[in-house]
Amino acid sequence: MSLIDSYNRKISYLRLSVTDRCDLRCLYCMKEKMNFLPKKDLLSFEEISRLCDNFIDLGVNKIRLTGGEPLVRKNIIDLIQLLGSKIDNSSLKELTITTNGTLLSKYAEKIKKSGINRINISLDTLNKKKYKEITRFGLLDKVLEGIKIAKKNDLEIKINTVALKNFNDDEFEKILLWCNKNKLDLTFIEVMPMNETDSHRYLQFIPLDNLYENLNKKFNFFKIDKNTGGPSKYYKSEKLDINIGFITPLTNNFCANCNRVRITSTGRLYLCLGQNEYVDFRDILRNDFTDSYIKEKILFALNIKPKEHNFIIEKNVKPYMQRFMNVTGG
Ligand code: GTP
Ligand code: 5AD
Ligand code: SF4
Repeated sequence: MSLIDSYNRKISYLRLSVTDRCDLRCLYCMKEKMNFLPKKDLLSFEEISRLCDNFIDLGVNKIRLTGGEPLVRKNIIDLIQLLGSKIDNSSLKELTITTNGTLLSKYAEKIKKSGINRINISLDTLNKKKYKEITRFGLLDKVLEGIKIAKKNDLEIKINTVALKNFNDDEFEKILLWCNKNKLDLTFIEVMPMNETDSHRYLQFIPLDNLYENLNKKFNFFKIDKNTGGPSKYYKSEKLDINIGFITPLTNNFCANCNRVRITSTGRLYLCLGQNEYVDFRDILRNDFTDSYIKEKILFALNIKPKEHNFIIEKNVKPYMQRFMNVTGG
C-alpha cells in the first residue's frame, strides 16, 4: 500500500513530535514565556507505537523523532527501543532523531543500541556567550561534549544551523570549517515564520542564496545526489570532507517534492509544516477504533494535504502561522 496525496506526492516519512517541551528556549523558536501542553494530553508510547504501525503498513519507511526536545520526554529510551525494534520486524527502514544535543552525553550510547544510526543536532554558534544568548540559558560545552560522545558511539551526525541576521552571519565559515574538522555534515536553514517570537521575523531572516554564494567563492561547491528524504539540497567541495546542505523554504520552496507528514505529541496529524490542516488521532486511539478505521482516517487526511506553505517574511507582515516550531518539531 502507499500513501499518495492529491498532488501525486508519495508520503513515506513521518516526523513524530514526542513532546512540545524543551530544556532550551531558542529566540527564533519560542517566546520567553510559553504555555506547554499538560502531560496527560500526550499520547502514550503504546498509542504512538500503534499509530506508527498503521503508518508503516501504509508505506511510511522513515520515522524521525522530534520535539520540542525529544530527549526530555520521560523514559524516551523505552519509546526509541519500541520503535527501533520495528526496523527488523516491519518495512520501517530508518528511525532518526533531531535533538538540541544537551542530553546526548547521557543518552547517545542507548540511542545507538536502540537502532538509531543517524542524528541531527541543532547548533547555531560556536561561541559560548552567544550560545547562551540564542538559547536563553544553554551551555555550549554540554552540547559539544554530547557531540563527542555521540561520535564515540558511531552515530552519524548532521549539524543544523539556522542562519540568523546579526547573530551568526559572521560565523558561517567558522562553523563549516569546525564541522569539517570534526567530520560532521552541516545544513544551513532559513528561519521560518512559525508564529511570532519576541523579535520580528524580518530582523532574524537571512536568505541562504547570499550565504551560498559567499561560501561558494571559497569552496567551489558541486551538487551531489545525496537525498536523506528531507528538504536539504547537498553539496560537496574538493576542499572539504563533509556534505553541506541548504534548506531554503523561503527562497527556494521545495514543497513539490514533499514526502512527509507530522504527528504532534497529542496525536494531531499535521499535513504541512506551514499550514493549519490537521486530523486529530488521540480520541480515535483512545476510543477503541479498529486499525482499519485508523488507516481510513490517514488516507482521508492525505486528501487534504495542502499544496505548499505560503511563508513570507517582510517588514510589515506578521506570520500567518499561529503555531511555534516546537509543536510539530520542524
Ligand atoms: P533528514 O530527514 O535527515 O533529511 O533531515 P532534515 O534536515 O530534513 O530534518 P531536521 O529535523 O534536521 O530539520 C531541519 C530543518 O528542516 C528544520 O528547520 C525543519 O523545520 C526543516 N524542515 C524539515 N521538513 C520540512 C518541511 O517539510 N518543510 C519545511 N518548510 N521545512 C522542513
Ligand atoms: N525556523 C527554522 N528553523 C527552526 N528551528 C526551530 N525553529 C525554527 C524556525 N522558526 C530548527 C531548530 C532545529 C530544527 C528542528 O528546527 O534549530 O534544528
Ligand atoms: Fe528547543 Fe529546538 Fe526550539 Fe531550541 S529550536 S527551543 S532547542 S525545540
